[in-house]
Amino acid sequence: MSQKIKWGILGLGKIAGKYCDGLRHASNAELYAVASRDLNKAEEFASEFEAEKSYGSYVELLKDEQVQVVYIATPHAFHHELAIKCIEHGKAVLCEKPFALNYKQANEMISLAKEKNIFIMEALWTAFLPHFRDLETKFKNKEYGKLKSLKADFGFPAEFDETKRLFNKTLGGGSLLDIGIYPVFLAYRLLGMPNRITAEAQLAETGVDESCDIKFHYDQDIDVELTSTFKEKTPTEAILEFEESKVIMNSRFHEPTSITTHKDGKHEVRDYGVENNGYTYEAEHVGEMLLNNKTESDIWSIENTLELMQLLDSIRKEIKLEY
Ligand SMILES: NC(=O)c1ccc[n+]([C@@H]2O[C@H](COP(=O)([O-])OP(=O)(O)OC[C@H]3O[C@@H](n4cnc5c(N)ncnc54)[C@H](OP(=O)(O)O)[C@@H]3O)[C@@H](O)[C@H]2O)c1
Repeated sequence: MSQKIKWGILGLGKIAGKYCDGLRHASNAELYAVASRDLNKAEEFASEFEAEKSYGSYVELLKDEQVQVVYIATPHAFHHELAIKCIEHGKAVLCEKPFALNYKQANEMISLAKEKNIFIMEALWTAFLPHFRDLETKFKNKEYGKLKSLKADFGFPAEFDETKRLFNKTLGGGSLLDIGIYPVFLAYRLLGMPNRITAEAQLAETGVDESCDIKFHYDQDIDVELTSTFKEKTPTEAILEFEESKVIMNSRFHEPTSITTHKDGKHEVRDYGVENNGYTYEAEHVGEMLLNNKTESDIWSIENTLELMQLLDSIRKEIKLEY
C-alpha cells in the first residue's frame, strides 16, 4: 500500500470544504484531523468528510503528534500567526493564498520554516492544474510565438458587508488579495517580474479595494492588463495575443478549464479531462514533496511566493492601501 500523509485542517469555512473534497481523491493523503473555533462545527465537518479527529481549538490540533501537514484555511489576516504556530509545533504547512498580508509577514513565516527545516507552501492551486501547466510549458518552449498582449480579469458581484472578510480591512479584505492575485500570478509566472507597475483602484467604504486595474510594464513591448472586481461578474478569462495566434484560458481561468487556440483562421479547444475539483493536484504534490523529505515545492517555490507578495505590495503602494 502506498504511504499516506496525515492532514490537519485549520478553519472550516467555504474553501476548507472544497479542499477536503479534493483531498479525498489524492492517492497519498488521509484527512486525519480538523479544527474549528467551535467544536460542534468541527464534529459535523469531520463526520461529513470522514476525518478521524475533530478539535474545538486550532492549538489542540497542532498538539496532535500524528498530524503531519496543516492546511490553513482562515481569512488572510490569520495566515501569518497560524503558520508560525504550525512551524513551532513542527508541522509542515500549506497556507491558503494570499500567503500573508504583506511581504514582511511572508518573509517571517518563510524564515522560521527554513530555520526549523520545515516544509511550507502557498496554496496557489492554479500552478498545479493541467491546463495551466500545459500552457506554461508551451509558452516557455515558445510554441505560440511572440507575445503581444496578456489580459486577465477576475470579477464577481459581492454584497457589501463590512463584517465579512471580502470587505473587512482587519480581515485583509479587498479584491486584489482575494481574486486579483490570480491575474497577477499569471503575468508573473509567464513573464517574470515587471520593470514597473501602474495601478488604480476604487475603494469601498472600509478602505479596501472594491476593484483594481493593474498594468505591468516590461522591457519587451507587451501590453499587460490585469483586473479584479467585487462589483460585477466579468468573464474571468485570460487572453494571450501572439503575433500569429491567440490563446484563451477559458472561464474561469484559475480553476480546471479548457484552452482555446486560434491560428490560421481555425480554432481548437483543448479539454483536460479533470475529474476532481482541482484541489487534488496541489494536495497530491504536497504529499509527494513531504514523502521525499523536501522543504519546499519544486513547482510553486518559496521564491515564487515572496516575489508574488512583493508584486502585491507594489500594487497596494500604487493604490495607497496598507494593511
Ligand atoms: N484556493 C482557492 O480556490 C480559494 C478559494 C476561496 C478562498 N480562498 C482563501 O481561503 C481563505 C479562507 O477563505 P473562505 O472563503 O473559506 O473564508 P470563510 O468561508 O470566511 O472561512 C474562513 C474560516 O476561517 C476561520 N476563522 C478564524 N478566525 C476567523 C475570524 N476572525 N473571522 C472569520 N473566520 C475566521 C473560520 O473557521 P472556524 O469557524 O471553523 O474556526 C471560518 O469559517 C482566504 O485566505 C481565501 O483567500 C482560497
